[in-house]
Amino acid sequence: MRGLTHLVSALLAAVSYIQPGLAQTPYTDAKTGIKFSTWSQGSGYTFGVALPEDALTKSATEYIGILRCTAGWCGLSHGESGQMTQALLLVAWPYKDQVVTSFRYATGYNLPEVYSGNAKLTQISSSVNGSTFEVIYRCENCFSWNHEGATGSVSTNEGFLVLGYAQAKAAPTNPSCPDSVFGQHSTFGQYGAEINNTVNKDYTKWAALATKTSNGACGGTTTTTTTSPTGPSTTSSVPGPTVTCVAPSRDTYDYIVVGAGAGGIPIADRLSDAGKSVLLIEKGPPSSGRYDGTMKPQWLDGTNLTRFDVPGLCNQIWVDSDGVSCKDTDQMAGCVLGGGTAVNAGLWWRPNPADWDENFPPGWHSRDVAPAESRAFARIPGTDNPSLDGVLYQHEGFDVLSNGFKQAGWKEVKANQQPTAKNHTYGRTNYMFDHGERGGPMATYLQTALKRPNFGLYVNTIVKRVVRDGAHASAVELECNGNGGYVGKVNLTPKTGRVILAAGTFGSAKLLLRSGIGPADQLAIVANSSDGPTMVSKDQWINLPVGSNLVDHLNTDVYVTHPDVVFYDFYAAWTDPNPNDKEKYMKNRTGIFTQSAPNIGPMFWDEIKTSDGKVRQLQYTSRVEGEDKTGTNKTMIMSQYLGRGSTSRGRMAITPQLTTVVAEHPYLRTEGDKEAVLKSLDNLRAALTPVKNLTWALPLANQTTANYVDSLVVSAAARRSNHWMGTAKMGLDDGRVKNGTAVVDVNTKVYGTDNIFVVDASIFPGMSTGNPSAMIVAASEYAAERLLKLTTAAAKRNVEVLS
Ligand SMILES: *[C@@H]1O[C@H](CO)[C@@H](O)[C@H](O)[C@H]1NC(C)=O
Ligand SMILES: *[C@@H]1O[C@H](CO)[C@@H](O)[C@H](O)[C@H]1NC(C)=O
Ligand SMILES: *[C@@H]1O[C@H](CO)[C@@H](O)[C@H](O)[C@H]1NC(C)=O
Ligand SMILES: *[C@@H]1O[C@H](CO)[C@@H](O)[C@H](O)[C@H]1NC(C)=O
Ligand SMILES: *[C@@H]1O[C@H](CO)[C@@H](O)[C@H](O)[C@H]1NC(C)=O
Ligand SMILES: *[C@@H]1O[C@H](CO)[C@@H](O)[C@H](O)[C@H]1NC(C)=O
Ligand SMILES: *[C@@H]1O[C@H](CO)[C@@H](O)[C@H](O)[C@H]1NC(C)=O
Ligand SMILES: *[C@@H]1O[C@H](CO)[C@@H](O)[C@H](O)[C@H]1NC(C)=O
Ligand SMILES: *[C@@H]1O[C@H](CO)[C@@H](O)[C@H](O)[C@H]1NC(C)=O
Ligand SMILES: *[C@@H]1O[C@H](CO)[C@@H](O)[C@H](O)[C@H]1NC(C)=O
Repeated sequence: MRGLTHLVSALLAAVSYIQPGLAQTPYTDAKTGIKFSTWSQGSGYTFGVALPEDALTKSATEYIGILRCTAGWCGLSHGESGQMTQALLLVAWPYKDQVVTSFRYATGYNLPEVYSGNAKLTQISSSVNGSTFEVIYRCENCFSWNHEGATGSVSTNEGFLVLGYAQAKAAPTNPSCPDSVFGQHSTFGQYGAEINNTVNKDYTKWAALATKTSNGACGGTTTTTTTSPTGPSTTSSVPGPTVTCVAPSRDTYDYIVVGAGAGGIPIADRLSDAGKSVLLIEKGPPSSGRYDGTMKPQWLDGTNLTRFDVPGLCNQIWVDSDGVSCKDTDQMAGCVLGGGTAVNAGLWWRPNPADWDENFPPGWHSRDVAPAESRAFARIPGTDNPSLDGVLYQHEGFDVLSNGFKQAGWKEVKANQQPTAKNHTYGRTNYMFDHGERGGPMATYLQTALKRPNFGLYVNTIVKRVVRDGAHASAVELECNGNGGYVGKVNLTPKTGRVILAAGTFGSAKLLLRSGIGPADQLAIVANSSDGPTMVSKDQWINLPVGSNLVDHLNTDVYVTHPDVVFYDFYAAWTDPNPNDKEKYMKNRTGIFTQSAPNIGPMFWDEIKTSDGKVRQLQYTSRVEGEDKTGTNKTMIMSQYLGRGSTSRGRMAITPQLTTVVAEHPYLRTEGDKEAVLKSLDNLRAALTPVKNLTWALPLANQTTANYVDSLVVSAAARRSNHWMGTAKMGLDDGRVKNGTAVVDVNTKVYGTDNIFVVDASIFPGMSTGNPSAMIVAASEYAAERLLKLTTAAAKRNVEVLS
């Protein structure tokens, strides 16, 4: 519980400052006399709690809650850090004059399932008045949970809880039924809630008022979730097609590449180009219209485009991630063809050479990788000018900040022409986009690969494990994951065949664990799971630190407002696009929809030399959003990413259900990391404070940076950038040897094996300057070069432990 202790100290340091909108307010219910402490988010969300008298000395198992919200649905997370995944969730919504409640549980960023544990909700009162609804309830068995064996708990005797809130404007599809399907939240977040004055000696008396257990009615006509393998379409009332699964080809392959994202697609293309037979296997469905993807708003019907192809629709994943995001990890990840490069905002950075030189071992320094990197940028040059008419649309917020930096003496740069200019610089955003569409690896490498007869692609197919005999893999086992998916086993070319894991930082690490490669405690969990009976025997386990060294850009958001900033509602563009903007996009690939939501830019960079002598890199992404925190649409958020040089590391773990979780977050665990965050925010405040009419909202102008940063929850849910890396670290220090930290060698080969490789962000030893997609593609290009040179005999050489 190292993570929790850290969180506790961070929150204790924070009590002097409460985030705006989340002030604690006492509230007494007029009808029952129940006294609550309440917290409100904006004007439409209030949650309050009352606790048993002894809750500060003996951890409570229940509480009385009040939820008061407007429209749609709202809810809360009881989780350790108020997170959505791996936590007991409660959602509520109005139905006629009643309030319907439902306990839920999510293992990934998808519609949470109905919770299977023994939490019990009894209503004390409820009311619905116009668009406002309120429920007062007793919640028993709500501070610990067990959903099909996945457990967690929080304790009330620390004197505070970290709570999560979520709220949506749209009503559930079948509101009379607690099991109803509902859409994604429009706002969500976490906050620290001090509970030491919420205990009351009258608790037992109040709890006795909870008598109403009936909760909605589903009737015989329940609308069930249509988990059609191609995900939700705009016509969700049509039942999903029946799923047919297929037996795989009996061919053998020189290379089986698992995962079609930034790591898998380029290397699959390069190896097939060199004449190797290659099978690329993707767990999810097709995404881009280019591959017959079907997920799209109505206004794209009849075009070759889906939601994934139109840059301005990229944030739809925060509204509707069902069938898009992975179900088997507690972080947001794209489980569709293209992986992260299908769902992200498309940011595309020429790596800072220091990102190779400082993080990677010899053999992977910038001079080694340079030709491969050039090949990657020749295939996908990217652009900082995504609209085909060369116009930057709605640049008001961009101008406010850019002018501020210019005044402060920061230098304007063309970032991809000056990859080393990363200190006190700012500029336009670079995207992988091409001709006004997403582009990227799917539009380039995958196109050329698919033209070759020696290349095959499976979609909707999960690779369950690598089949191996000691050091040598012979096949992969497949599970069908949707229509047209494959089930069975597919073989590698005997003796010379190789498997490349490119399933992402959580996916590849999980595959290693399921294949008997990893730390003993993690392998024991796999052995005790549904995989147990078919798992490779214990004498064949390879002990490597898979899951350690987890790293991500630590995200710290700051907010300013300025009268010139103009907000564009990219979310509304899903159902109701502005006709002119739509026309421009459809006819000419010009206008705001060629730019990523929510209007990203300027980007800016800072480098801080900290007291430990290290230089730490920071990158900032500005965006036009954040009205929920400031009360005005004239808001710019600037997200600070702490990158290269950061020394905090976390750990990924596997659960008995074979999902993956961030067991220890990788944020602010070292003094130097904290120092860099604070100093750089001070630089930013100094640069922008003189800007005429600019107001600091978070932190407030009169608040210290340290005070603000200490007020923020430190957890994966609150601070991630979703640039996860490092779970199968590359290095010269073989992880099987005492104190060794590396899982793969400089040929990306897993230590102790002769033909299992990992090529994706898992192998990155440390964080990059910027968003990592382009660097992953460059690493994939380079790995292809090395693999083609690596002979079977050489690959066998370091299989034995050298100590
Ligand atoms: C219903 O809401 C309106 C507007 O917020 C308020 O004026 C009125 O008093 C409410 N009525 C009840 C019965 O709560
Ligand atoms: C609650 O805790 C805070 C700090 O943790 C303290 O300042 C405050 O006095 C406490 N209140 C009560 C009622 O104990
Ligand atoms: C859609 O069609 C246009 C025009 O033929 C083409 O340029 C573009 O690449 C296609 N995009 C996709 C995603 O298929
Ligand atoms: C194995 O799993 C069972 C339940 O599935 C659990 O009760 C038991 O503690 C687990 N054993 C180990 C060693 O994890
Ligand atoms: C598309 O481009 C043509 C040629 O530049 C121009 O005449 C037309 O007005 C544009 N249409 C839209 C909707 O922008
Ligand atoms: C970054 O630039 C600032 C301003 O010129 C300078 O004070 C600072 O020393 C530079 N940082 C590093 C690590 O060189
Ligand atoms: C901000 O804009 C959105 C979308 O147009 C709107 O729904 C919301 O009410 C606006 N917020 C404020 C505070 O004006
Ligand atoms: C600042 O705001 C005032 C009034 O709102 C306006 O008259 C003035 O032009 C603004 N100045 C700048 C530099 O934006
Ligand atoms: C800081 O500024 C805010 C708003 O500008 C104000 O409400 C608050 O009282 C100030 N706090 C202090 C300690 O001056
Ligand atoms: C491993 O690390 C520990 C602690 O840093 C050190 O004492 C020990 O000598 C190291 N062992 C080896 C084999 O390097």
